[in-house]
Amino acid sequence: MAPLTILPPVNSAHRIQLEPIATPSRLLLGPGPSNAHPTVLAALARTPIGHLDPLYIELMSEVQELLRYAWQTDNRLTLPMSGTGSAAMEATIANMVEPGDRVLVAVMGYFGLRQADMSSRYGAEVITIERPWGEAFSLEELEEALITHKPAVLAMVHAETSTGVCQPMEGIGELCRRHDCLLLLDTVTSLGGVPLFLDAWQVDLAYSCSQKGLSCPPGLGPFTMGPRAEDKLNRRQGKVPNWYLDVSLLNQYWGSDRVYHHTAPVNMNFGMREALRLLAEEGLDQAWARHRGSAERLWSGLERLGLELHVPEPLRLATLTTVRIPEGVDGKAFSRHLLDTHGIEVGGGLGALSGKVWRIGLMGYNSTPQNVDLLLNLLETELPRFRDTVPAAVAAA
Ligand SMILES: Cc1ncc(COP(=O)(O)O)c(C=O)c1O
Repeated sequence: MAPLTILPPVNSAHRIQLEPIATPSRLLLGPGPSNAHPTVLAALARTPIGHLDPLYIELMSEVQELLRYAWQTDNRLTLPMSGTGSAAMEATIANMVEPGDRVLVAVMGYFGLRQADMSSRYGAEVITIERPWGEAFSLEELEEALITHKPAVLAMVHAETSTGVCQPMEGIGELCRRHDCLLLLDTVTSLGGVPLFLDAWQVDLAYSCSQKGLSCPPGLGPFTMGPRAEDKLNRRQGKVPNWYLDVSLLNQYWGSDRVYHHTAPVNMNFGMREALRLLAEEGLDQAWARHRGSAERLWSGLERLGLELHVPEPLRLATLTTVRIPEGVDGKAFSRHLLDTHGIEVGGGLGALSGKVWRIGLMGYNSTPQNVDLLLNLLETELPRFRDTVPAAVAAA
């Protein structure tokens, strides 16, 4: 059948014939999305029910409670935004930032830059401090910046998907309280895969996504807001300038009133409910240990093959590993080969690391020793064809 080009004007004599959608089977070992768990896919395929159906409303409460568990928080305002992680990021900023508010963004990669861009679009006076891509912030650096700039909000990324760094969080929330500032945290690549203790860390606002550690397809952006952030929201001079993401309006649907706001993507929430159920059944600590175990297996395997990891061990993120592309290797050609020949996706570098690293994700359902061994085996047997000089370790093997 001919590929779809421009369709003719409506004509009842002419029937459009296209094959039904056919998607390849891929193993997604890149920065996300990750593969969804089969029972999550089955949940997504169920018949939709009304978004005000009492059974759906019960499911909404379950999703909220399970999200609180996944984040280790008691925050009342915890719900999945309709949209991807960026929608949830925008929700934290749209609700929190009032024109003229000073927002300090601690940038250590691509997604910190996005937080800064979004904050400026909502009228914040944005100040950034930066670390090289592959490093994290110390408490001293953050405190100095809080003292100098006296921001209303400190925004940062827990798990920087562009670099593979996990920012140590101990003590940052306490600093923010001492300097009367809210702490806003991106947990897109950490939720479900990396230890996260929102309340113990005194995080005031956080967001995430469905498509990584939760083993669900992209489409929902978990959002949470603590009491200090709620106080700031209640003191706003003007309306939240984004109707769709206004959490006070959304809470009339997600809270006790259950009033229509927008038609909820009910099937996505079926999937989210199943993904969170699986996480709770496994147990958070077990899921974190599984991610850590797979990552350590990958790291030692890569080093055995003579490949260099971009991030020093203490800062490495279990869900996302950045590997330096060896000198003389066409990194794009190798990842294209993995996709075309083996159906495996790995990511390339973003921003400052573009062309310099591969990004290997082991997230949610995909974080298994079998997947690690499969990829290591391909790197060992097929990477040599893509380089001028084979590293000693591979040559010896
Ligand atoms: C750390 C981080 N923040 C935010 C986002 C944006 O999420 P999304 O692409 O789901 O909109 C991503 C996406 O990968 C991410 O890795």
